Amino acid sequence: MDQPGNIADAARPIGVLDSGVGGLSILRELRAQLPAEDVIYVADQAHIPYGTRPIEQVRTFTVGVARFLIEQGVKLIVVACNTASAAALYRLRELFPQLPFVGMEPAVKPAARDTRTGVIGVIATETTFQGELYASVVGRFAQGVRVETRACPEFVRLAEAGDTQSPQAHQAVRQCLQPLLAAGIDQLVLGCTHFPFLKETIQAETGPDVTIVDPSPAVARQAGRVLEGRGALNPADVPGRVIYYTSGQPDRFRAVLGALLGAECAAAADVRPVAWVGETLRAASG
Ligand code: DGL
Repeated sequence: MDQPGNIADAARPIGVLDSGVGGLSILRELRAQLPAEDVIYVADQAHIPYGTRPIEQVRTFTVGVARFLIEQGVKLIVVACNTASAAALYRLRELFPQLPFVGMEPAVKPAARDTRTGVIGVIATETTFQGELYASVVGRFAQGVRVETRACPEFVRLAEAGDTQSPQAHQAVRQCLQPLLAAGIDQLVLGCTHFPFLKETIQAETGPDVTIVDPSPAVARQAGRVLEGRGALNPADVPGRVIYYTSGQPDRFRAVLGALLGAECAAAADVRPVAWVGETLRAASG
């Protein structure tokens, strides 16, 4: 039987949000797994970093960005930022019960399941570690396992600069991971969406005996399952379009897009400015 509501839904874009370019690690997976979907990506670079701000402030920003995406007619929002998820996921579901949200939580579960040493490492932002979501994940999945945590704000800065493999990047990664390696971790959970862009550098510094747990493919699969469950997968057989909005500088965003996702992607990218007006985000001109 026809379900007109769902057919209308299927053609709508997916919304993806982050404080900056970190959510592109999720976007990359969404494009690979759900190529027909249109996507609207918002980078709130006017406020980056989120990860050192008070949780209430991050919640306000995240709700403002989500409202903007809802005004653009999205059918699902992927909160492609662990910090924003920690601060606002429960609130978003309360405020917009009709819309599905897929959020990020540090992937402690597979790490705790697979550890041989009994010690796992989690790297994320300070604000992510302060949220209830993180405490609940550890409480649910890390019984009997030692969890070593470390905030790595420098990794966010490096990804935002498109600097993922330089000697400085290696140095910063080495310094941040040293205490975790000394503690004997054999699993390292990437609890911030900026970090997958540093994955090769991280693996080079940990050596092959540490497994890096990157949740991005699983998050994209979850988005696909949610859409499928609502009959809202886009049935088109042409590739979907992506519109990028940044509350920072569009030229700067495009340059970093090139560094992280490739020059071809950056050259073709539709990058538009948005600006904050009070607690609301508005499309801005030029
Ligand atoms: N990408 C964000 C996350 O996943 C954090 C970056 C920031 O500090 O703004 O936590």
